[in-house]
Amino acid sequence: MKHSMVDRTGRIIDYLRVSVTDACNYRCTYCGPGKTHGSRSLEQMLHLCSILQPLGVDTVRITGGEPLMFPSIAAFVTGLSEMGIQKLTMTTNASHLASHAGALKKAGLHGINASLDATDSSLFSTLSGGFSPGPTLDGIQKALDIGLAVKLNCVLLREHYHQQVEQVMEFAAFHAIPVRFIELMPIGAQTSLQGVPTAELLAFLTEEYGIAQTSYLSHGKGPAEYMNFAGVEVGVIGALSRCFCSGCNRLRLTSNGVLRSCLYHSDNLDVYALLEQGKTEEEIQQMIRQFVYEKPLRHDFTRQRIQDYTLASLGG
Ligand code: GTP
Ligand code: 5AD
Ligand code: SF4
Repeated sequence: MKHSMVDRTGRIIDYLRVSVTDACNYRCTYCGPGKTHGSRSLEQMLHLCSILQPLGVDTVRITGGEPLMFPSIAAFVTGLSEMGIQKLTMTTNASHLASHAGALKKAGLHGINASLDATDSSLFSTLSGGFSPGPTLDGIQKALDIGLAVKLNCVLLREHYHQQVEQVMEFAAFHAIPVRFIELMPIGAQTSLQGVPTAELLAFLTEEYGIAQTSYLSHGKGPAEYMNFAGVEVGVIGALSRCFCSGCNRLRLTSNGVLRSCLYHSDNLDVYALLEQGKTEEEIQQMIRQFVYEKPLRHDFTRQRIQDYTLASLGG
């Protein structure tokens, strides 16, 4: 029988986000720079995941930084599949995906969430820190060609969001894939950037595409709320204005082997260090259960920004 991890409020924690590296080849304006802590080896990361899997983890999302910068990424996916993880997905900027997609699918990856903040060269370059959209668009195309499930992630910035929405909606409609519009979370040193509250986004979408239809489809196991605008499945992720913490089902493993029970809170359990100290796997699993039990109730981004870290160094 599966014994899921449960916290003190009854939230079932069965979704692990694993940041395999905090390095990235892009320099998105809203993301970096911030503290980084490097990566562990393939074997070390798989060992850590094998300790977590029997605790009831059935879904793993591989994140970064940019996870395709991790040298043995396909072998990591193979290892997770062999461990019996049922749903295996990745969040990537897709710029190196064209050459990796085949091997990843063969290794057991089910799908990707591709970050796409714009499609036009000039805006893509502004938002990504000087890069061209070509490799990312090719990577997404390749993933679709070989049958990986693809969703788009678009973090909206106040000064560009009308263009972002138009460009990414057009791309999503053309490829018939879901797109998620994300509220900027106050993480990182870029204090001057402003995101777009979900209510304002929904008003803009309604103006442009008409009233949304309810979506009865499910596109993942995360915080997005889906609806259908003009035939496009649109997810909104309102981490600030529509806090979804009460339904949180996740735990994060950072690229240096530390568990974090919440993106926002500093509570952590250094599982890698516990192994180094010679603790047994059973002892560590017991500590993980207790750590999860005490998972913080919610973030409080409205009071405090996480200034010194990137999303990657917080566990992706
Ligand atoms: P699926 O539903 O499985 O596709 O996952 P997801 O949407 O959670 O994964 P993804 O990595 O694509 O994350 C998209 C966005 O969701 C991120 O930009 C974050 O804004 C937000 N997000 C994901 N996990 C968390 C979390 O634990 N806390 C908060 N506050 N935001 C999160
Ligand atoms: N707020 C919201 N989303 C962010 N992402 C990166 N930084 C932030 C932030 N500060 C997004 C990326 C990627 C996903 C994992 O998180 O664009 O799609
Ligand atoms: Fe890289 Fe993702 Fe950060 Fe952009 S948001 S710089 S793609 S880690």
